[in-house]
Amino acid sequence: MAPERLIEIIKPAESDIPHLTEMVNEFAKRGDFLPRSEDHIRATLPDWQIAREGDQIIAIGSLLLYGPKLAEVRSLAVTDAAQGTGIGRKLVESLLVEAKEREIPRVFALTRAVQFFEKVGFEITDKENFPDKIWKDCSICPLIDACDETAVQIYTS
Ligand SMILES: CC(C)(COP(=O)(O)OP(=O)(O)OC[C@H]1O[C@@H](n2cnc3c(N)ncnc32)[C@H](O)[C@@H]1OP(=O)(O)O)[C@@H](O)C(=O)NCCC(=O)NCCS
Repeated sequence: MAPERLIEIIKPAESDIPHLTEMVNEFAKRGDFLPRSEDHIRATLPDWQIAREGDQIIAIGSLLLYGPKLAEVRSLAVTDAAQGTGIGRKLVESLLVEAKEREIPRVFALTRAVQFFEKVGFEITDKENFPDKIWKDCSICPLIDACDETAVQIYTS
């Protein structure tokens, strides 16, 4: 019988910043989301959660607040070897618990992994619902005029 995997979902420590940055930028190179600098990650560290197995980070994601009523799941990624084993779901569920604890009623994502988010309980919605997001991040995205992402959202209560 395979040994049980010990995976913890936690807030990253300062010492995780280099590994976290490397992972963000590896997935950014593939076009999954936008790149982020180490300084940016340091400045937003409390927004992040990671899944750790032993001394390896196997998944990352952040919860970005847009005021008291809306947050975004951002920079969500699971390492190739760990994909398809439920880690992505666990991480998003943990980010949603955080949103609920912070009394944020609605969480959204802009994504190509629409079916994954639907499995976790999100529903497809209109991108125009999120003007702050469009102006803040989309204005620096190379795909601004050919966006192939879908907006999904979930209510936490
Ligand atoms: C999308 C991603 C985060 C999903 O994480 P994961 O750990 O592989 O997903 P899970 O194993 O938790 O899957 C949960 C459910 O979603 C389904 N699912 C996962 N990825 C899917 C996909 N690309 N298409 C369709 N269904 C998918 C799984 O089959 C599972 O379904 P089940 O509950 O019926 O068994 C991961 O594949 C990834 O990092 N992709 C590259 C980066 C990326 O696209 N990030 C999203 C940016 S917003």
